[in-house]
Amino acid sequence: MTAILSEARIYDDLAEFYQLWRDACLGRKASESDEVKFLLEVFASSKSVKSVIDLGGGTGVHAIPLAKHGFDVTILDKSPNAISIARRNFSEIKTVQSSFETMVLTRSFDASICMLSSFTYILDEPGRKHFYRWLSDHTRDLLVLDQGNFSRYPKTFNDRFQGEDKHFSLKVARDWYIEDRTKHTSFLYEFVDKASEAAKVLADEQVQRYVTIEELVAYLGKGWRLVALLGDYNLKHIFDEQSSPRMICVFKRVRD
Ligand SMILES: C[S@@+](CC[C@H](N)C(=O)[O-])C[C@H]1O[C@@H](n2cnc3c(N)ncnc32)[C@H](O)[C@@H]1O
Repeated sequence: MTAILSEARIYDDLAEFYQLWRDACLGRKASESDEVKFLLEVFASSKSVKSVIDLGGGTGVHAIPLAKHGFDVTILDKSPNAISIARRNFSEIKTVQSSFETMVLTRSFDASICMLSSFTYILDEPGRKHFYRWLSDHTRDLLVLDQGNFSRYPKTFNDRFQGEDKHFSLKVARDWYIEDRTKHTSFLYEFVDKASEAAKVLADEQVQRYVTIEELVAYLGKGWRLVALLGDYNLKHIFDEQSSPRMICVFKRVRD
């Protein structure tokens, strides 16, 4: 086995492996269809949702199925690789390459979604203010903001995952520590090409700052009401701080 240790980012250099990584780390291969079903149910609560922006939509895990359901979907993501994979997988998908912290898209959308903690990658306060101001100004009706239920996370943690697809097997070692609601995660990935048995070991790092409900409400301002606080991708799963895996806020625009 030849081990080459170098740095790589799962959302960008390794975006080709994002699906395998997601399956391995979330440990529930079928969850994407539940997530899409959940989004469809949320949209069904508002008759007006036709256009959707998927912020941090990456390779199109949610955006592509939503587009196939007839929604006019745009992915915004800072990763050029992820976006080109999304377009390769579904040529009709609209994409914008941009960072949340500096996005200047002028178009508005009926709904904005931000799944799998993507907004927690904004690390500075001016960036967060810019992002939530954009959301508030450019979303006509519904916001779905999904992050992990960070109140359950231990201060330090490590775990190991594995997964495989047709061509590769993947072992993931994940270690994190949390300080001031900021999670610093180091990953080690071992990819093995099933055909050649060649192995590659890569290191990745992520920093995320989780956002409280009170902060979200304050960032969005007066025009929004929190209409559902859910603990998983299921409208019946009411958020419980002690036990829920997710903390999903659904906001609806309040009209005077
Ligand atoms: C956890 S992944 C989520 C991908 C997809 N939404 C999902 O649910 O599987 C986070 C995504 O956010 C993107 N991202 C992270 N920081 C970003 C930023 N500051 N601006 C724009 N996109 C960002 C990454 O490139 C990645 O595609």
